[in-house]
Amino acid sequence: MSGSKGKYWIIGLMGLLIGVLVMAVFDGAMNKTSTNEYCMSCHTHEQADLDWKKSPHYNSHSGVMTDCVACHLPPKEEGLMKHYMAKAKMGAKDIWTKMTKNTDEIDWEAKRELEHARKIVYNSSCERCHVNLYPEGITDDGITAHLHYEENAKKLGLDCISCHLNVGHYMPGYEHKRLEGVVMDFDDGPKYDSLAVVDSFEDFTETVPGTSAAIRMIAVPGGEFTLGSSPKEPFHKDNEGPQKKVKVSPFFMGEVEVTWRQFWAFYNETMSEGRTPPEKIYANNNRPDVDAVSGPTPPFGFPDQGWGMGDRPAITMTHYSASTFCQWLSLKTGRHYRLPTEAEWEYAARGGTETPYFFEGNPKRYSEEGFMSKFRGADTTMIGRYVVYSGNSTGKTQEARFVKANPFGLKNMLGNVMEYCSDWYAEDAYSKIADGALDPKGPESGEEHVVRGGSYADDASLVRCSSRGHTHNDDWLRTDPQNPKSIWWYSDIKGVGFRVVCDVPENVIINK
Ligand code: HEC
Ligand code: HEC
Ligand code: HEC
Ligand code: HEC
Repeated sequence: MSGSKGKYWIIGLMGLLIGVLVMAVFDGAMNKTSTNEYCMSCHTHEQADLDWKKSPHYNSHSGVMTDCVACHLPPKEEGLMKHYMAKAKMGAKDIWTKMTKNTDEIDWEAKRELEHARKIVYNSSCERCHVNLYPEGITDDGITAHLHYEENAKKLGLDCISCHLNVGHYMPGYEHKRLEGVVMDFDDGPKYDSLAVVDSFEDFTETVPGTSAAIRMIAVPGGEFTLGSSPKEPFHKDNEGPQKKVKVSPFFMGEVEVTWRQFWAFYNETMSEGRTPPEKIYANNNRPDVDAVSGPTPPFGFPDQGWGMGDRPAITMTHYSASTFCQWLSLKTGRHYRLPTEAEWEYAARGGTETPYFFEGNPKRYSEEGFMSKFRGADTTMIGRYVVYSGNSTGKTQEARFVKANPFGLKNMLGNVMEYCSDWYAEDAYSKIADGALDPKGPESGEEHVVRGGSYADDASLVRCSSRGHTHNDDWLRTDPQNPKSIWWYSDIKGVGFRVVCDVPENVIINK
């Protein structure tokens, strides 16, 4: 061994020693700032701390505890660099926000929604610990669900928390498993035993016999209006044109979106237990002489997302579910209930106005996407009085009493939840409608149905009166572990619901 080589050897060794020393100090600092105590020194609010202690990862059968960073950082096994980069980023953001912001003003609730949670929880961490997805004691539903996950996770963008959002922090009301029997019973008030009398074209309250559910119906006068929007309207899309002048006959429409109280009344009377195959249900409900419809099978987990039931709009039911609700209501009342056509829906939403919203204002001013709002911030005062949308919703639906009605007296036509229409969706539907048409209907057949009005999660640009949407059947069933998939519940769309229309009974004379 020559002298110079020995020198290099010593320098190399010293380098290594310094490296190890630096790493040790660094790792020490890293570990100190990775303890649960460190995290909880700031995260003392309920969800993060107390609710972690109530979760299956702290309060587990085996007593094994899972640390905060085990879920909120990528595992070290995936690469130290990745782990520490994520940590530095999170640490910097935490400290910066703590220093510059009043933490009481942070919307912690919104961080609990799946869309956001996917950004702060690492799926690879779940997979690192849960190596065996088919442990002893797992239910059949669990097995079907996990097979579905392993086959489709990439394609559908599924994470473990798409179905297990509550694993890190206890969430009252969230459950991802098959429910049984009567899920919710709001039959607390007096049960109605007689029908409302409808002998004139005026608002009335449908009292559904045998239940304590009441549905306020608004008389919507017929008339002519312009369907769709002009290309000059801000955020106009091609599917909103060409504009057509059409006529709509008078009808009654629900003042508000169908609520959980009303929907559970239907469910509790018509529920099909267990795994009734869809063919059997379709066959029964299609019989012309059907006297009792077959209703939904139990949902997978509470379908209200833990947001509350009662007078909040019912959500996550399929178009078929909503249509069957109308069929049930028709049988109960002897009046003809159904979903609105797209033309009726837009006519009702406009309430006689021809502007982008039924109240004043420019969508560019209300939208987060508008050029000007980048500088001034979007204006929420006016739109906030009428619409539950991304600008004011804090990531949830809202009860109708919090908004003002439109000129017809209807609430939440725009925002809150997208509403099913009876029409099939077609991009170019309006080009097929004749000018002056009376009560136009969409295409004869199609793949997806029309939904209108936008939801609590949408920007102001998408809650314009003319804005059109449609169902995304496959995507909305992403986490449904059942095979065949449910025809009653979409487990992956929270912002969809419906409102009912009632045809004017023949005995009612309308004074024009
Ligand atoms: C210095 C105080 C402080 C400490 C210590 C702290 N946090 Fe935070 N943390 C915050 C604040 C403030 C926010 C809100 C950040 C925001 O919304 O911009 C936050 C947000 C978060 C979020 C949500 C991030 C997002 O983008 O929505 C997660 C997850 C989180 N912290 C986890 C942790 C974990 C895990 C630890 C321990 C390793 C930790 N925090 C330690 C103050 C802290
Ligand atoms: C088993 C995985 C897991 C563990 C362990 C865990 N979390 Fe979470 N954390 C989640 C998930 C999933 C969410 C999003 C859903 C929710 O809020 O429950 C979340 C959300 C959060 C949020 C944002 C929402 C809120 O409630 O403020 C913070 C902050 C947070 N965690 C901090 C922590 C802290 C601090 C710890 C340790 C005391 C911890 N987490 C332990 C999985 C975990
Ligand atoms: C550090 C390892 C670790 C990590 C990371 C982890 N888990 Fe767990 N998980 C456990 C342990 C241990 C239990 C408790 C098992 C027991 O006692 O039966 C558990 C329990 C669960 C349970 C509940 C089982 C029950 O009996 O109720 C679910 C569901 C679950 N984990 C899913 C997840 C998901 C989703 C993630 C990612 C957000 C995750 N886990 C991250 C180790 C981990
Ligand atoms: C498509 C939805 C879905 C996805 C995605 C999913 N799971 Fe599950 N998981 C379920 C269902 C359903 C069950 C059974 C629940 C029941 O019947 O009580 C279950 C059960 C479990 C259990 C056992 C809980 C118990 O009560 O014994 C664990 C642990 C678990 N899952 C972990 C994971 C992990 C980790 C991932 C990601 C790798 C994951 N799951 C992805 C739906 C899903």
